[in-house]
Amino acid sequence: MNKFIVTGGNRLDGEITVQGAKNSVLPILVATLLVNGESVIHNCPCLSDVDATIRILEYLGCMVTREGHTITVDSSTINRYDVPDNLMREMRSSIVFLGGIMGRMGKAVLSTPGGCEIGLRPIDLHLSSMEQFGANITTENGCLVCSSDGKGLQGTRIILSFPSVGATENIILSAVLAKGTTIISNAAREPEINDLADFLNKCGARIYGAGESTITIEGVSALKPCEHSIIPDRIVVATYMIATMMTGGKICIKDIVPSHIGPIIQPLRDAGCIISVSGRNVMAAAPNHLKRIRMIRTMPHPGFPTDVQAQMMALTTIADGTSVFVENIFESRYKHVGELLRFGSKISVEGRMAVVEGVKSLNGAKVKATDLRGGSAMILAGLCAEGKTEITEIHHIDRGYDEPEKVLSILGADIKRVNKDE
Ligand code: EPZ
Repeated sequence: MNKFIVTGGNRLDGEITVQGAKNSVLPILVATLLVNGESVIHNCPCLSDVDATIRILEYLGCMVTREGHTITVDSSTINRYDVPDNLMREMRSSIVFLGGIMGRMGKAVLSTPGGCEIGLRPIDLHLSSMEQFGANITTENGCLVCSSDGKGLQGTRIILSFPSVGATENIILSAVLAKGTTIISNAAREPEINDLADFLNKCGARIYGAGESTITIEGVSALKPCEHSIIPDRIVVATYMIATMMTGGKICIKDIVPSHIGPIIQPLRDAGCIISVSGRNVMAAAPNHLKRIRMIRTMPHPGFPTDVQAQMMALTTIADGTSVFVENIFESRYKHVGELLRFGSKISVEGRMAVVEGVKSLNGAKVKATDLRGGSAMILAGLCAEGKTEITEIHHIDRGYDEPEKVLSILGADIKRVNKDE
């Protein structure tokens, strides 16, 4: 087991590119199940969640090869439609295998993924959508048994009560090979939805309106293999920008999609940061003193992303004044607060609201990563704290960040990955 040792005080400065998006590569790897042949996916980050997804694809009978950041999946050899509990539980987003397997095999047996550190995460929208495609769903021994009884999935109209990312992905995966047309209303609009649709449309699917609230999918009889490159990870871009701002530095992140980070630019400007975009590059320079951010409400895209809440909270702990957060997406996504208090920050939480009173400085501390994004906030606090910080449970961080210690070292950070016993 590893841990990170961070010595604070270095001002980050420099130019980087970022990894491919975790929340894009996962559903796209699942979507390769719908393609009869070899799909070649470039710009895949090296993450434990990607490894877990590959383990499920291989269990289902697919041939998967990886060369650096390129993954090739040949799903022509698929020979199963069940996913065992141990593989499902490795990560929450394994639920999108429901749409991938149903779309390809017309039946699927999966255990329910269960909750995680940030909330109960029910799957009611996934299941009710699947039933609207005409699937029959029963539960046997904690397993979901889904079948279209040999009739195949039927195109349908689905109105989502909440623009769930995962449910929208499952509907798209189920609809591309279904009979007839599917219309999703109140669909998720996250950039990762666009990337999934772009991949499938390159394979011959007919998906229209991805990125908008209404998506229309005309079912086709088959998909042909293609090559695709995963979009840059907007959450990772935000994380490294915030890290640099907290240390009073300057950064240029190259080859990103500027519109994807739109929702975090204004709050950073409110904190006094100077942000400019030129082509596919974003530049950010920190002010002498960070200012408080009046209110941050997490919302579905294009609102402020919940996956940047913890990192932005870390920034406000050293800002002049009081900042307020409202976490609207997940019911228990403040687990990092207890750890941030160890740095000497001042934060109070009441239900979905958190109030942060900025302090002059943070002190190094022994903390743990409570979840993926909460863990990244620990690194950020450690980078600007006085003295050493030790972060354990970093397997959470490895789920979503590809060698963060190497990227941050390029920017001048003093961060090391060491064995837990050292
Ligand atoms: C995706 O999770 C992301 N994960 C999450 O990123 C992200 O936080 C989330 O979208 C919101 O942006 C991946 O893409 C792999 P949702 P997902 O379905 O699809 C409720 C990270 O840090 N809901 O949009 O699971 C649910 O409980 C991760 O990278 C239901 O009630 O999110 C939650 O409160 C964390 N019933 C809300 O909707 C359902 O059937 C949003 O969930 C489905 C969801």
